[in-house]
Amino acid sequence: MKILALAGSTRQESFNRLLLKVSVEGARQAGAEVTLVDLTEYEMPLFDQDLEYREGVPDAAVELKQLLINHQGLLIASPEYNGFPAPLLKNAFDWLSRQQNGHEPPLFAFKGKVASIMSASPGTGGGARGLTMLRILLQNLGVMTMPEQVALGQAAQAFREDGRLHNDEMQLAVGALGSDLFDMLSKQATLFD
Ligand SMILES: Cc1cc2nc3c(=O)[nH]c(=O)nc-3n(C[C@H](O)[C@H](O)[C@H](O)COP(=O)(O)O)c2cc1C
Repeated sequence: MKILALAGSTRQESFNRLLLKVSVEGARQAGAEVTLVDLTEYEMPLFDQDLEYREGVPDAAVELKQLLINHQGLLIASPEYNGFPAPLLKNAFDWLSRQQNGHEPPLFAFKGKVASIMSASPGTGGGARGLTMLRILLQNLGVMTMPEQVALGQAAQAFREDGRLHNDEMQLAVGALGSDLFDMLSKQATLFD
């Protein structure tokens, strides 16, 4: 079972990247093979259909799309910007949603994937509003999203030096986003075998 982990922030001290790593640890402990992606390594211009017509889909998007195709699950941590998921993620997903050739079914890379989502914010809401919108976006792309999610508020005080969360229950809940996703993917694989 392979899981692709993505954060919607490339900020050096990103709370969402820290949160994502806790869920990745949970998935790995459950037995998943996780690829942690750093979106700074997949730079893409703002989606522009004229640019796409002139130059095609950027190499970074083609590479990331192939990576997505090769994984069954997604762990996504996204900041909330004015109540919406990070434009970095939306932009990447828009590029990844494009057909590379006429034979490829629409949303080919996303269809049938299962995702667990989370967010972190220095505010009290933890980015929960953005997760509601992220869930809708993923649904539109053909991705099933697990019902459990975590919106971590007051993130500036939440992490220990070693990257774990001070709150043990929260640490378990975030780890479970990864392990439950792995369990779901394993069940799905058994069903369709
Ligand atoms: C343009 C902008 C809009 C923001 N809107 C929200 C918001 O709606 N809700 C929230 O909790 N935090 C909001 N924030 C604060 C972010 O949660 C905070 O910058 C956070 O640290 C970003 O995530 P990161 O730590 O993973 O980089 C906003 C920040 C920016 C720059």
